[in-house]
Amino acid sequence: MPLLRALQRLGHRPTMQDWPGLIEAYRAWLPVTAATPVITLREGATPLIPAPVIAEHIGRGVKVFLKYDGLNPTGSFKDRGMTMAISKAREAGSEAVICASTGNTSAAAAAYARRGGMRAFVLIPDGYVAQGKLAQALLYGAEVLAVQGNFDRALAIVRDVADRYPVTLVNSVNPYRLQGQKTAAFEVVDALGEAPDWLCIPVGNAGNISAYWMGFQEYQAAGHCRQLPRMMGFQAAGSAPMVLGHTVEHPDTIATAIRIGNPVNREKALKVEAESKGGFMAVTDAEIIEAYKLLGSGEGVFCEPASAASVAGLLKRHQEVPAGATVVCVLTGNGLKDPTTAIENNDSKFHTGLAPETDVVARVMGF
Ligand code: F0G
Repeated sequence: MPLLRALQRLGHRPTMQDWPGLIEAYRAWLPVTAATPVITLREGATPLIPAPVIAEHIGRGVKVFLKYDGLNPTGSFKDRGMTMAISKAREAGSEAVICASTGNTSAAAAAYARRGGMRAFVLIPDGYVAQGKLAQALLYGAEVLAVQGNFDRALAIVRDVADRYPVTLVNSVNPYRLQGQKTAAFEVVDALGEAPDWLCIPVGNAGNISAYWMGFQEYQAAGHCRQLPRMMGFQAAGSAPMVLGHTVEHPDTIATAIRIGNPVNREKALKVEAESKGGFMAVTDAEIIEAYKLLGSGEGVFCEPASAASVAGLLKRHQEVPAGATVVCVLTGNGLKDPTTAIENNDSKFHTGLAPETDVVARVMGF
């Protein structure tokens, strides 16, 4: 942000208000016009956090950064796509939007749609959405429909509904979603001054990996970076259609956000794999939880299990990372989304039912 640096030299103290949200920040790169009503919660500008503990696990001078998109307004990267999709829906005069979701899309759709004065219908797989995400959708004023089927089935239904009725589909088949999401790649390059060597990212419906690639390519074409990263997509072993090369009928994983068996952006993502010389790989639930705990207790970064798949994948494939390389792992969602998984999966000491006495507390502390 050269403009901000120039202002700082003139004595301006930067505040969060300098960040106008990603549509204004990257307006020239996005399909918006003066007629587009910008519906924003000042999303974007999320930190790129160094991860020295993970880097030490890998060794050989590899540098690791976490793109912590869990710090967006509704706690996930979905806000990037949703500010665009909802602004464009409003511009087109839409009065209602619909999506299928494993949770995060529903939270973002609800928040932005309501802010834009629209109704938000969200279909979720009954019983497979983390508690925080459900709380968000309800509190933001969505109309929540829990269906007894998985995400893939819910997506088929909302596509059908949007075809037949006056509601705008805001899943990642909506091209404006990926346009908004590509700004995360811009921010990574803006922060590093170059594209990383590897970009590790969790993959569910395969929209975000495609969006990042679009962002890196556009920035390279404009001369903002010289190189392009290898795009490494990680799926949960029980929900790994991109790895297996076929649809998974009954996807299963603790990482409910990526419990998807039939990714709608499959073709786009295969192109990303080929063009970037990247790859799709599976990580087990046990590996996801190990990375999740390491991020929390080692780096002080609380992400949701699906997000930890990117770090689990990096740790699994670390021998392939070139010495001295720069790696960015995308942490797509905030850990607070899924308190149940955190409480059930940690190695911390939790002493309960203690008498309210100094001596008792000191003894438990080991003094
Ligand atoms: N990480 C998180 C936290 C997610 O919520 C999702 C997708 C992904 C990764 C995968 O991204 O689908 O672009 O490959 N969540 C969607 C939802 C499906 O409904 O919230 P993708």
